[in-house]
Amino acid sequence: MRSITIVFLAAPLCAGPLRPMSSAETCGQCHRAILDAWKGSAHARAMESPVFQDALDAAETVLGPGVRRTCMGCHAPLAVEGGDLQLDRKASWEGVTCDYCHSIREVNFDGGVPRPKLEFGAVKSGPVKHAVSGAHATAYSPVHESSRVCAPCHEYRNQKGFLVLSTFSEWQASRFGKQGKNCQSCHMYQVAGNVADVRVVRASDSRINLHKMPGGRSVQQLNQTIKAELTLTREGGKVRAVVGLANVAAGHYVPTGSPLRQLILEIQASSGPAVVFRDKRIYARSVAGSNGVPLAREHDSFLDSVKTLSDTRLAPDESRKEQFQFDLAPGVAADVTATLSYYYSPAARSESDRKMAFRSLRARIQ
Ligand code: HEC
Ligand code: HEC
Ligand code: HEC
Ligand code: HEC
Ligand code: HEC
Repeated sequence: MRSITIVFLAAPLCAGPLRPMSSAETCGQCHRAILDAWKGSAHARAMESPVFQDALDAAETVLGPGVRRTCMGCHAPLAVEGGDLQLDRKASWEGVTCDYCHSIREVNFDGGVPRPKLEFGAVKSGPVKHAVSGAHATAYSPVHESSRVCAPCHEYRNQKGFLVLSTFSEWQASRFGKQGKNCQSCHMYQVAGNVADVRVVRASDSRINLHKMPGGRSVQQLNQTIKAELTLTREGGKVRAVVGLANVAAGHYVPTGSPLRQLILEIQASSGPAVVFRDKRIYARSVAGSNGVPLAREHDSFLDSVKTLSDTRLAPDESRKEQFQFDLAPGVAADVTATLSYYYSPAARSESDRKMAFRSLRARIQ
């Protein structure tokens, strides 16, 4: 249990009551540790990132300015809720920001579609029971301790009725969903830190929920999730390489979310300086429009997809064995490397933003 003593309510920190749709910087005047973690999140970059900007430009060129509303509904929700699609206010630029998530009171699934109930005002809702803040009213809200709070943006059926993002329902069907191990337990686990600055309240034994939300860009998350092993055997002039792969710790498919994400396994064998064998496997979902042609850009795959052509992703708890075989003269040695990478988006400007290698396995056959 935490014990909290209110020290003083720092007048200089907060001149006047908080206005609804405040900037994260305003919240960070008191919630410094949370602000710092959030700044490193994909949520904080969801609007400003060049990858999204380029994709939005491409979408507007083809579909006209009306498409902004759709894309920004998830990437810059305060811009849409505040009628600021031209992004005049700072909070609109902040992507998925504090005052959006903490104005959610409930998420309803009428007709199977997750819709947030939002109230922008003086009350900030969250997981702390009996929170006391002089800066704003607080309300304990169970939805913040549930995966439902993530569903409005991580479960998306487009206007053609196709489920483009299905992270929430993948989770629901998994062991984690059935056991009630929510998204937050893996993406917002507790770390040491002060909920509010010690200048504002003094709390002992304080813990906060990590707002950085590490996911598919975190080498640590990826390494924990994908168990991999490489074994080599030879028989006469043939080498057999087996790569065992398992999704042991994600509460959904790997990859999940955008159909353009891929997990890539590349295998290469060399004998001295010569590469003697090379192959790869891709774990991904391919989606197509009504003409059956695979869609390879975000706005197309989000808006126009009507069917799944193939799905080779790793389901939660699934394991697979990939077999490879190549020729190698008896008595000749070879070094085999299997590399796992995560591919993010074709809209990325640089190779390092597009794809990240996170694990390499090596073995030698004599
Ligand atoms: C002047 C300081 C100050 C500012 C500015 C401030 N807060 Fe707070 N906030 C507090 C204090 C103090 C608490 C209570 C902490 C506790 O009880 O541990 C709190 C509690 C909260 C809680 C927990 C509520 C609950 O019941 O779970 C949330 C959520 C929250 N603040 C969000 C925000 C957001 C969003 C902003 C910006 C729009 C903001 N705060 C701005 C001081 C501030
Ligand atoms: C208002 C919409 C919205 C809500 C609510 C939301 N997200 Fe997100 N989330 C996004 C968007 C948009 C992105 C992609 C940002 C980008 O890369 O441009 C994202 C990305 C992520 C990522 C990817 C991080 C990475 O580095 O690849 C994780 C993990 C994540 N969200 C988890 C959550 C969890 C957990 C919740 C609920 C507590 C949640 N999100 C609620 C919109 C939202
Ligand atoms: C994507 C939605 C999302 C965003 C963005 C977000 N929060 Fe939270 N926040 C949550 C959720 C969900 C929890 C509760 C997690 C739990 O209890 O498992 C939470 C918890 C909190 C708490 C209670 C203390 C704690 O750590 O549990 C405070 C205070 C808070 N957030 C403030 C902020 C501030 C300030 C920002 C912006 C810098 C922010 N939040 C951005 C979803 C969000
Ligand atoms: C048991 C742990 C666990 C649970 C529960 C879980 N995740 Fe994840 N999640 C992970 C791991 C590990 C990764 C990194 C591997 C990957 O990208 O699939 C990840 C990745 C992600 C990504 C990044 C995908 C990308 O392409 O970059 C998003 C978004 C995400 N999770 C959202 C959610 C949401 C929303 C929920 C709840 C409905 C949830 N996760 C539940 C462990 C979990
Ligand atoms: C229902 C919410 C939602 C809508 C609507 C949406 N997105 Fe996203 N978008 C996300 C989430 C969540 C991610 C994170 C990827 C994941 O889950 O794998 C994402 C990821 C992306 C990425 C990859 C970002 C990166 O850093 O890799 C791009 C680009 C993108 N979206 C563009 C768009 C465009 C353009 C539109 C409008 C046509 C759009 N999105 C509509 C939720 C949404």
